[in-house]
Amino acid sequence: MSEKTIFTCSACDAQSPKWSGRCLNCGKWGTLAETSEGQGAKGKGQKFNLDATKFDQKKLVDFNTIAGQKFERVKTKMAEIDQIMGGGIVPGSLILLGGEPGIGKSTLVLQILKQLDNGTPLLYCSGEESAQQIKLRVDRLNYKPQNLRFFGETNIEEVCAAIHSFKPQLAVVDSIQTVYSNEVESEAGNVSQIRACTVKLLEAAKTTNTAVILVGHVTKDGTMAGPKTLEHLVDVVLYLEGDKYQGFRLLRSSKNRFGSTNEIGVLEMTEQGLEEVKNPAKSFLSATPQNLPGSVVSCFVEGNRAFLVEVQALVTPTIFGYPQRKTSGYDLNRLQMISAVLFKRASLNLNNQDIHLNIVGGFKVTEPAIDLAVALAITSALRNVPLPQNTLAIGELGLGGEIRPVQNLEKRIYEAQKLGFTNIIAPDTKLQKEYTVIIQRVKHISEAIKSL
Ligand code: TYD
Ligand code: MG
Repeated sequence: MSEKTIFTCSACDAQSPKWSGRCLNCGKWGTLAETSEGQGAKGKGQKFNLDATKFDQKKLVDFNTIAGQKFERVKTKMAEIDQIMGGGIVPGSLILLGGEPGIGKSTLVLQILKQLDNGTPLLYCSGEESAQQIKLRVDRLNYKPQNLRFFGETNIEEVCAAIHSFKPQLAVVDSIQTVYSNEVESEAGNVSQIRACTVKLLEAAKTTNTAVILVGHVTKDGTMAGPKTLEHLVDVVLYLEGDKYQGFRLLRSSKNRFGSTNEIGVLEMTEQGLEEVKNPAKSFLSATPQNLPGSVVSCFVEGNRAFLVEVQALVTPTIFGYPQRKTSGYDLNRLQMISAVLFKRASLNLNNQDIHLNIVGGFKVTEPAIDLAVALAITSALRNVPLPQNTLAIGELGLGGEIRPVQNLEKRIYEAQKLGFTNIIAPDTKLQKEYTVIIQRVKHISEAIKSL
């Protein structure tokens, strides 16, 4: 059999039958290299004869014969982390911690190591920073390491050897983009390297029962060669996100083989590292929402948690040309839709008005449940009258001007009530529980506007 040659991209692993200067899949230049088909593929070219009589049925497993296994989870005693992990770190699991550079991943893993440093060996491998640099951060976090060892190595075989010999309870590899394997011929950071290194770490984690945290950088679009391509290999995928210029960080899990992915952790970057936020529902609400025209408080749900946000609108006459629509923290198309609905269904003249919309607190809200708050903020800004004190608005706006029901309405009402709101404008749906707040049910946007 003649060996066919194919060309493989070193950045995205796409294959093509012909060479070209630019990879057609990822658009990178000069990454295609010749490889022969069949390399690595097991059993290619062998004739296979099906013979069912020779199959040993004992190979198939009956679930009733398996004893249920309870995972002994290691608690970090950082409530947000334990909750996200489904109750603690499972030994032998491979955890991927992704996030933009500078968001606080290295800080977070050091804090986890600090919490676990009480008798069992721990390992921190970094190819990004020197021992001195990490020592600075350790001091900053008020951490006096006892059993933590540092390994400044980027060769994955060495790292795995260290795990096998040192047998730590937790090993951290910071970051997956800096490690390389001798067995793969490409630069560190390429997809094939990243994948090969992850597979090696997975094996080391499972054979030594060591939990391994892999740190991975993602760029703004999240598609860069790296973390996204290994989500299927690891047990848990965590993302640390937030605005670098605001203190708040959200830790969310997009995959968890040992727990639910509905949890979301709220942390704040302080002088002493990441700290838990005492009242997360309030974290995105500006300190004291004042009753200004154009400002309406609403509630959005992320994971299992409800957060209150302040929506601010500024409406000014258009001086020149087309009326402007500008947003910060909100989808521009959605704003355009809402202003069109207000124009058509509530007879609001917005045709010669510029609209600026801002979500206070630096968070990007995509949930339609804050539609009603956006519509009321615009109306309030246009008329220059504020909403009554301690009022909150929840609801999705339909193209006909109707207010549609939203999911988790009761959770939102509960949070609002807890934080001292007394009046809630909400869609007309049945509620299971009784609340002390006044709930003003609205069916149409024109009804809601009457409360102004
Ligand atoms: P870092 O953990 O290095 O981010 P990553 O590993 O994701 O690239 O931390 C990034 C930022 O956090 C850095 O700019 C400084 C800031 N920081 C604090 O504000 N407080 C602290 O206690 C620490 C350790 C860092
Ligand atoms: Mg780092």
